[in-house]
Amino acid sequence: MKRDPVCMKNDMLETLISKEELQATVARLGKEITRDYRGKTPLLVAVLKGAFIFMADLVRAVDIPCTLDFMAVSSYGTGTVSSGQVKIIKDLDTNIEGKDVIIVEDILDSGVTLSYLMKLLQARKPNSIRLCTLFDKPARHKVDITPDYKGLEVPNEFIVGYGLDFAEVYRNYPEIAVLKPSVYSEE
Ligand code: IMP
Ligand code: MG
Repeated sequence: MKRDPVCMKNDMLETLISKEELQATVARLGKEITRDYRGKTPLLVAVLKGAFIFMADLVRAVDIPCTLDFMAVSSYGTGTVSSGQVKIIKDLDTNIEGKDVIIVEDILDSGVTLSYLMKLLQARKPNSIRLCTLFDKPARHKVDITPDYKGLEVPNEFIVGYGLDFAEVYRNYPEIAVLKPSVYSEE
C-alpha cells in the first residue's frame, strides 16, 4: 500500500460528498428522528467504529431526550471485500427490553452486518427497532433490508472519510472521498 504519510488529500482521487452535504444530511435525519420519537426516549445504538462520527453529529441533531450505547462488530478483514462473517467484538452495556432502539450505521453495503444485528437485538425484546444508515449502496445488497432512515445513496465504489476507513486509516478525513487506485496496490 502506497500512502502519503504527510497529507491524506494526496491519497484521494475525488471528493464524493462535501462537508456541507454531510452536515445537511445529518440535520435532516436528526429532524426525522425527532419528529417520529417525540414523547419517547429512544436508545441510539451506534455500530463501531465506522459510525462514531455520524453518531456524534446525529445525536446533536436530535432534539428530544435519548440515550446512547455502542456495539462493535466486524464483518470485514482489513481490506475492501466482505468476509460474510459477523463477529461481536463489543456488546451493548444496556438491557434493551422494552426500549425503542435505533441502530445507527455508517453504510449499508451487502446488508449482512445489519440483518444479523437486527435479528440479534430483536431477540432481546425491544419495544421497537429501526435502522438509520448514513449511506446506502443499493447495488450491493445481498439480503432484503430497507433502512427506516437513510442519508444518501452512494455508487458502488469504496469510500472513506467521516468515520469510514480503508485498513483502519482515513476515518478522520472530514469529507467522503474515493481513494486513488495506487493506495490499494500491493507494491
Ligand atoms: P455489510 O455487512 O456488507 O453491509 O457491511 C457494512 C460494513 O462494511 C460497514 O459498516 C462498513 O464498516 C464496511 N463498508 C462497506 N462499504 C464500505 C465502503 O465503501 N467504505 C468503507 N467501509 C465500508
Ligand atoms: Mg469498516
